[in-house]
Amino acid sequence: MTATVQARTGNSFDLRDEAAYTEWRAAKLADSPTSVHDLQVIIEDASSPSALEISQIRDRCQRFNMAVYKVSSVLSKDDVLSLAALFGLNRLEKPLLTGEDGITELSVAGMADSRRGVYIPYSNKQLSWHTDGYYNPTGQWVLGMVLHCVRSAATGGESQLFDTDIAYIRLRDENPEWINALMHADALTIPANDIEPGDVRGAETGPVFAVIDGQLAMRYTHRVRSAVWRDDPATADARAFLRDLLDGGDPLMMTHRLQAGEGVICNNVLHRRTSFENPDQTGQGRLLYRARFRDRVAF
Ligand SMILES: [Fe+2]
Repeated sequence: MTATVQARTGNSFDLRDEAAYTEWRAAKLADSPTSVHDLQVIIEDASSPSALEISQIRDRCQRFNMAVYKVSSVLSKDDVLSLAALFGLNRLEKPLLTGEDGITELSVAGMADSRRGVYIPYSNKQLSWHTDGYYNPTGQWVLGMVLHCVRSAATGGESQLFDTDIAYIRLRDENPEWINALMHADALTIPANDIEPGDVRGAETGPVFAVIDGQLAMRYTHRVRSAVWRDDPATADARAFLRDLLDGGDPLMMTHRLQAGEGVICNNVLHRRTSFENPDQTGQGRLLYRARFRDRVAF
């Protein structure tokens, strides 16, 4: 039996409504994935996913905020966008580095002589815990994301995924005051001009957790440099707890090395990537397509 974990009113995230939180928390923890297998859905024909396959992916996203799909054909960027649209992911963010289609290619190839190569998503270095678009202004958060693997690395490049709802539960169970601190409008500031090349954005200050249309959203970076946290004891303690949690691991963190044809579709959960090594042949290195949306996965 599948429990319904969707917050019906948003009161689950109101510290004054303990009953709603308790009910939501119990349902969420009772229906947690036990392995990445619980997230996986095979799509037989990527050009026309079946109603069952679509409902299975929606189901995973509703229960766990993420799904891992697998297709057997090679997908173009347009194919990835078409797939995303099946799940209500339409409002595509178009950052400065993307091509005209708005999908970012994450690879190392060709980056050696460009400024882009110094930014970790475009290198083979470890990429620490974050949610996508954590430097976006309040009101323009990334709520949904697709990460599609075109080619995996020779070694490494493993992804870890952590449901942001579970991170919230771990924090609130430890100290509810930390939720207030992390929902404060000044909780986390990302300084100007330090995210991606050519980025001319100003500093962005905003909360770490926010309730958007009754659903929890999270803005987080594990980086120490280029992140300024609100200077008060509760924020410092909450941040330290969260760092320890993410560094130390949690039974509900999922680890998976995406293979060619696999992808993550999610409500912008916390994620990180290990370092990797590409094959010696040029043009055969790890390549992922990334699309970010202002929408959550629709049910
Ligand atoms: Fe990311």
